[in-house]
Amino acid sequence: MDLYLNGEIVDEQRATVSVNDRAFLFGDGVYEVLRASRGRLFEPERHWRRLRGGLDELRIGSGVMEEHDLPAVVHRLLERNGLTAGDALVYVQVTRGVAPRAHQFPPTTTPRTVLVSTSGFMPKRSERSTGVEVITHPDLRWARCDIKSVNLLPNVLAAQAAAARGAFEAVLLRDGMVTEGSRSSVFAMVNGTLRTHPANERILHGITRAVVLELAGQAGVPVREEGVSMAELAAASEIFLAGTTADVMPVTSLEGVPVGSGEPGDITRQLGAALDARMAAAFDAAPARE
Ligand code: PDD
Repeated sequence: MDLYLNGEIVDEQRATVSVNDRAFLFGDGVYEVLRASRGRLFEPERHWRRLRGGLDELRIGSGVMEEHDLPAVVHRLLERNGLTAGDALVYVQVTRGVAPRAHQFPPTTTPRTVLVSTSGFMPKRSERSTGVEVITHPDLRWARCDIKSVNLLPNVLAAQAAAARGAFEAVLLRDGMVTEGSRSSVFAMVNGTLRTHPANERILHGITRAVVLELAGQAGVPVREEGVSMAELAAASEIFLAGTTADVMPVTSLEGVPVGSGEPGDITRQLGAALDARMAAAFDAAPARE
């Protein structure tokens, strides 16, 4: 596969980044993961807006997005890698660039490191039809989880704890409340209302989460953006994950205990189908270049 690194398209085997890259030394960068199908992107504007927000928030500077014309780069890469027929994932990472190690920012003129890569993707159909198991794990992250930074160590540790127990995802708990998953948003049906953590600094403002909230509103499902306690999660009739790689993923087991009937719930199935339809429409209708 070819990837895009700092203005050039190169074979990934030969693409290298300096050991003085700020992301390597400090985790000083942000990233995005987008879904593509037939050469078209799902909700690209929302992903670009979130990336822009993170770059500005961290004072890396969002001008880098125009300098590199990221949407055009993504389409060029998908074509180059023969990924315009099926499903694909797009990974974008921007770091503060390469500079001798010092905690404070290097000069603002330091060229940012810009990476875009693409890969084939298989939607998780079988897991979605059976549902998955999740564990709970302490949320050990910082106070700005809304920034999609490449500092993912707490997420990595939580995901590994889940994997070690054969679970699909770790649901993170902070102060007794569910925040989100290590790499997905978390929803639960609590007393007939669909609940998810409010979009504040404790969670990533997931794009799938936002779309699911819209779809639930359209379907007349009662929704509240309000934290779910561990006790409420344990008593929820349905739980599901939402994310770019998970879609709407039913959770049928929480720490080995069946959720509701132990089968994917009705609302979960309904919203999963609605998300699929929304994606299919986006991939059919959107112009191939966004
Ligand atoms: N993760 N919460 C966290 C902590 C995430 O890392 C992600 C996405 C989500 C879902 O967000 P979205 O719907 O915008 O994909 C929620 C990506 C896919 C990843 O790190 O691979």
